[in-house]
Amino acid sequence: MPAIVVVGAQWGDEGKGKATDVLGADVDYVVRYNGGNNAGHTIVIGEEKYALHLLPSGILTPTVVPVIGNGVVIDLSVMFSEIDLLESRGVDTSKLIISANAHVIAPYHRTIDKVSERFLGKAKIGTTGRGIGPTYADKMNRLGVRVQDLFDEKILRQKIEGSLDQKNNLLVKVFNRRAITVDEVAEELLTYVDRLRPYVRDTALLLNNALDEGRTMVLEGGQATLLDVDHGTYPFVTSSNPTAGGACTGSGVPPTRIDRVVAVVKAYTTRVGSGPFPTELLDADGERLRRDGGEFGTTTGRPRRCGWYDAVVARFAARINGTTDFVLTKLDVLTGWERIPVCVAYDVDGVRHDEMPMTQTDFHHAKPVYEYFPGWDEDITGAKTLEDLPKNAQAYVTALEEMSGAPMSAIGVGPGRDQTIEVRSLLPG
Ligand code: GDP
Ligand code: IMO
Ligand code: MG
Repeated sequence: MPAIVVVGAQWGDEGKGKATDVLGADVDYVVRYNGGNNAGHTIVIGEEKYALHLLPSGILTPTVVPVIGNGVVIDLSVMFSEIDLLESRGVDTSKLIISANAHVIAPYHRTIDKVSERFLGKAKIGTTGRGIGPTYADKMNRLGVRVQDLFDEKILRQKIEGSLDQKNNLLVKVFNRRAITVDEVAEELLTYVDRLRPYVRDTALLLNNALDEGRTMVLEGGQATLLDVDHGTYPFVTSSNPTAGGACTGSGVPPTRIDRVVAVVKAYTTRVGSGPFPTELLDADGERLRRDGGEFGTTTGRPRRCGWYDAVVARFAARINGTTDFVLTKLDVLTGWERIPVCVAYDVDGVRHDEMPMTQTDFHHAKPVYEYFPGWDEDITGAKTLEDLPKNAQAYVTALEEMSGAPMSAIGVGPGRDQTIEVRSLLPG
């Protein structure tokens, strides 16, 4: 009955989609448990490249049942476009299951996301503008619209009205926008009802029954540990819990049924949007990492901020998620550097910190303390085992493993499905 959580260890875009896809062949269910179409998970299969935003990465494996859990926020228009696009490329999406409790992103959530960012000016979060934050805010305020509400028009209208009451005041009086009517929102959402109905189930019941029957599942996170609203670099975070605990609340699979927590970590670090990033490189080295790693956002196309591996962040991710294994990705991108710096601790105003500082102020002041590792020039994109890697690449992986608090059980040497070195199996048992 194994349930495996796949979580991002840094600020997102570590390669969770690829890691989930690689596990996909061996599991029965893949469940997205948080976030929405702020995520962009890229999967490369042969010559084909797929960018998934809302649909679980398991959708590309014909034997997998893909599930959108209750913790996800769904933009129905985006979801159906994604389904249509995949179908047009020959991917069967008919097995998809959607939680009745997942919240729906309404047009006003997108509007508020964008205008509130504009109002924040220099202090903006740099959100993806997809309405994620305002939808989760409504959920917490008990003003949200859930998938199940679409099946009862009277209730749907009541819920929209409740949510719009406050928002129209905000939109008109503060943001100088026009008011949104209940009718226009209800009409838009109701266009999806017939198409949506066959997908919707009590997913917590379904997943627990599946585990009882000995089925296996991956719980796939969007975003990452340092973007977690509780544990990340608040307020420069997303509005959900991408960390392993969020996999339980966002799916209804309880902690006692999780067997393994796999944290995906890049061999260097990237971040999109605002917020502190101690190892960020604002020079030609950062440019080089961005170019070699193709570090441009899957969702917004924004250039990703790039920097060196941060072992303090990795240790934090190991601790917060109860990480049993790391998947180290994009090692191939580091080929060609004479020496590779790794941040092992921070200097905060003259004081050494081996762990994440307690306060945001200290984290903003954190300067990386680097150790340097010799690089390699050999092409590693065809490596199948650890022994195929040059000695310096092996030493780099071993050093990261020793610093980061969990074994590096798989190593990515390219975007392709087969470009993964499996050091030890990620499947329990
Ligand atoms: P996610 O959001 O965590 O799923 O990651 P993204 O898909 O946003 O970004 C990761 C990018 O790196 C994608 O373009 C992947 O195809 C690519 N990728 C994943 N693993 C590797 C790897 O080991 N090497 C290389 N070169 N690319 C990789
Ligand atoms: P995947 O799943 C990287 C970032 C945004 C912004 C902050 C808040 O592909 O790793 P939001 O729209 O969520 O309110 O934006 O979070 N962000 C991501 N960064 N990868 C992601 O997803 C992200 N999802 C959100 O850039 O800084
Ligand atoms: Mg991504």
